[in-house]
Amino acid sequence: MSNIKGLKCISCGQEYEVEGMQYICEKCGGNLDVVYDYGEIASRLTRESLAKDTDYSVWRYWDLLPLSDRSNIMPLQIGWTPLYRAKRLEQKLGLKSLHMKDDGRNPSGSFKDRASSVAICKALELDFKVIAGASTGNAASSTACLGASLGISPTIFVPAAAPEAKVAQLLVFGATVYAVSGTYDEAFDLCTEICAEYGWFNRNTGYNPYTREGKKTVSFEICEQLGWDVPDTVLVPVGDGNIISGVWKGFKDLKAVGLIDRLPRLIAVQSDKSSAVVDALLGDGKVRTIEATTVADSISVDLPRDGDAAVKAVKESNGTGILVSDEKILQSILTVARGAGIFGEPAGVTAYAGLEKMREEGTIGDDERVVCLVTGNGLKDVKSAIKVAGEPVSIQPTLASFQESVGPA
Ligand SMILES: Cc1ncc(COP(=O)(O)O)c(C=O)c1O
Ligand SMILES: [Zn+2]
Repeated sequence: MSNIKGLKCISCGQEYEVEGMQYICEKCGGNLDVVYDYGEIASRLTRESLAKDTDYSVWRYWDLLPLSDRSNIMPLQIGWTPLYRAKRLEQKLGLKSLHMKDDGRNPSGSFKDRASSVAICKALELDFKVIAGASTGNAASSTACLGASLGISPTIFVPAAAPEAKVAQLLVFGATVYAVSGTYDEAFDLCTEICAEYGWFNRNTGYNPYTREGKKTVSFEICEQLGWDVPDTVLVPVGDGNIISGVWKGFKDLKAVGLIDRLPRLIAVQSDKSSAVVDALLGDGKVRTIEATTVADSISVDLPRDGDAAVKAVKESNGTGILVSDEKILQSILTVARGAGIFGEPAGVTAYAGLEKMREEGTIGDDERVVCLVTGNGLKDVKSAIKVAGEPVSIQPTLASFQESVGPA
């Protein structure tokens, strides 16, 4: 991989050469970041080369990915999800420019397909026989879906309370599924222990340095879809903090290769019932374990596994963090659905909930050009949606019964 210089620890800065699979820093246990040779990449990857590229997926950014073998690419449409101008929500919020990035349109219905695409390719390049992962649900269903497209059946550990639809996806795609009686954090640690013991590829979010590399592709797309006009503010829902650290990496990559000349500020949005990263951002910068209980299962995390990188990313961007209530998150399912035609799962609309709160507080200005990530499809958790969506009107199959409800014609 001539585009890669090595790996660097996010916490202590120790550098490593890429040799086989390395997960974390041997010195301090910190997460690792892939370091690119931007000079070399900039000579090939230009606005002109991208304009000529007809591959509208995450793979159009191959030069900025840590992979060497294109033969492992999945035959699915991953990435290049729609970036909608949300005019009705602009009006509601009094904003001049708001775009929603609908990542629920990925093959397994969530943003996680970006991470899984790169992680699975890496596992295959390194000839791993088993791919395993722990997940609140989406990373797992994504690994199962993308794996199935290549005839691979991963081994998955999910908390027993994971939403039914996500578990259904896992089983439908043929993964071997272990429902762990415990939290996501316990499933995560168990998976890490088992992978070390059996020599399996561990796809766990944050712990695996390649998930961030897939996630960063969303920033490439945002810039390209906006005609290289970098937004001012990007709101991101945060659980482990790996999406937001990836979003930041993506913008920084583009600047490093000269495709953009400025960077946005990032806003980390969490539920006040799963607040570890925002607590750190608003406090002393240290990420501490909390007891997460939010209804937004995908971002219910006790100890964010890419928390340090997330805090660093938000701070570097001159951004901030904001907490929203679970009630506000559930209400945002309706607002985003009715205001933009996008049905998001609770975590999926959490960034929007943060935007609404920041507009109320006046911490996002009228003229800011805002992008809001919608990270997961609403069909993944209909139970939560039904809590706020109301009930249909029950009638008999007769005109009289209908008229009883609405009155005469
Ligand atoms: C729909 C959705 N939104 C947001 C997130 C948060 O991403 P991260 O855990 O990388 O912060 C996840 C993670 O599972 C997710 O599935
Ligand atoms: Zn280190």
